[in-house]
Amino acid sequence: MRSVSAELAPALDPNTLEKFVDPLPVPPIAKSVSREALPGRPSQKAPYYRIPMRESRIALHRDLPPTRLWTYGDSFPGPTVEARSGEPLFIGWPNQLPDSHFLPIDRTLHGAEADKPQVRNVVHLHGARVPPESDGYPENWYTPGHSATSFYPNRQEPAALFYHDHAMGITRLNTWAGLFGLYIIRDQVEDSLDLPSGAYEIPLVLCDRLLRRDGQLDYPHSPRPNAPWVPEAFGNVMLVNGKAFPFLSVEPRKYRFRLLNASNGRFYHLSLSSGQPFFLIGCDQGLLPKPVDAPSFVFAPGERVDVAIDFRDHVDQRIVLQNDAFVMMEFRVGRRRTAEDQPLPSTLRPVPRIPESAAVKTRELTIDEYMNAAEESMLMLLNNKHWDMPVTEKPVLNTTEIWSIVNPTDDSHPIHLHLVRFQLLDRRNYDPLTYQRTGQLRFLGPVVGPEPSESGWKDTIRAHSRMVTRFIVNFGPYTGRYVWHCHILEHEDNEMMRPYDVVAAKDLTG
Ligand code: C2O
Ligand code: CU
Ligand code: CU
Repeated sequence: MRSVSAELAPALDPNTLEKFVDPLPVPPIAKSVSREALPGRPSQKAPYYRIPMRESRIALHRDLPPTRLWTYGDSFPGPTVEARSGEPLFIGWPNQLPDSHFLPIDRTLHGAEADKPQVRNVVHLHGARVPPESDGYPENWYTPGHSATSFYPNRQEPAALFYHDHAMGITRLNTWAGLFGLYIIRDQVEDSLDLPSGAYEIPLVLCDRLLRRDGQLDYPHSPRPNAPWVPEAFGNVMLVNGKAFPFLSVEPRKYRFRLLNASNGRFYHLSLSSGQPFFLIGCDQGLLPKPVDAPSFVFAPGERVDVAIDFRDHVDQRIVLQNDAFVMMEFRVGRRRTAEDQPLPSTLRPVPRIPESAAVKTRELTIDEYMNAAEESMLMLLNNKHWDMPVTEKPVLNTTEIWSIVNPTDDSHPIHLHLVRFQLLDRRNYDPLTYQRTGQLRFLGPVVGPEPSESGWKDTIRAHSRMVTRFIVNFGPYTGRYVWHCHILEHEDNEMMRPYDVVAAKDLTG
């Protein structure tokens, strides 16, 4: 990777930023602007939200000049949408961005060719069960001056979802520029659990960004001026809710934190400097069956983890949330408790395990990485198929399948399917050489079950290096075209993404 060009400010040394001087921002809650008739049911109305994409300038740290960002609304992350299970809503997503991009577009990538406009956007609600026309298909992008409205039925269990850009070939740049926000679904069952709420329930959206000394965003690029794509983008600064090294004043009691990994490519391994455990209570698609305490956990881009932390025994202490040796933020525990602190319930929500015998089909799907002569990664595919090749994954509506992801690469890839939720079955080491030569899976180790932080309903699963990762999934409730992809956004933009179709049983041809 080449260093930044001469006319730009040099890279920021994150050690020069004073730590814990900014209070942790919490994104505003989105407010609806009107009520609109439901599709096909003109007498019933649902709230309509309007969240424009626009250019903003926001300081990421007290001592940095405001950073040019592309945001939903005026905040980074965008406003949090609060939804209830079974209560539909609409969101209009006007594109008010400028006409030229400020990050390096690679015109050699599929979908980002020179005949395509620089600025193109489409919003996907990650983890949502939505009809295909509202799902943010990557080719359904639109340019500044245009808008699209999505319909979100919210017919699913409570979970922390997130909306983000999904435009073909430039998702990594649009998201890096700041286009993401949270969308939280709740219901009465969850309310009745008395988990910490209100001021005691706080989202923590983690991402890293590459900043220059003038506070402006940088994005790494390859040494090839006509093909600047890089296989991975990592930042020099870690942000929590869009601030570098913020602090949060807390009472000596339990809090609930809704964590989202919104990074392009960084995995986090989180722990607390006090050595105390997290109480894991949920993952991507909602609550775990019961709380599990864990001193640390790993999560990849696209994954969410719901945790409780109990500060009761830490009056007057400062506790750092850390990513291995790196600091993320600080909790400052005060002395006063202003409201009653309930114990965590011993059970949360049943997660009935889908028996493997329910699967009508098992698909073996490979992750494929292509290197150039210098051993640099140039292209990544799923099952050796390019984006524009005919659709090969066509699960039948309301049937269950096992997807078995075979990963011979050196990296873990977070694999995400739109529309559905699934359960991780297991992972197992295998011998990639034998597989390459014979197509046979020769296992090299024992079957490894899910980690506690991934033991509930998931929509994004880490397919580990040199392992076969299996998950079980029921397809529905809609038919139509969706996508599945790696959630490392650099990979996704370079064809590690495939369309898939949920088909009605009668449409089954070939
Ligand atoms: Cu979070 Cu298809 O993405
Ligand atoms: Cu998604
Ligand atoms: Cu990947």
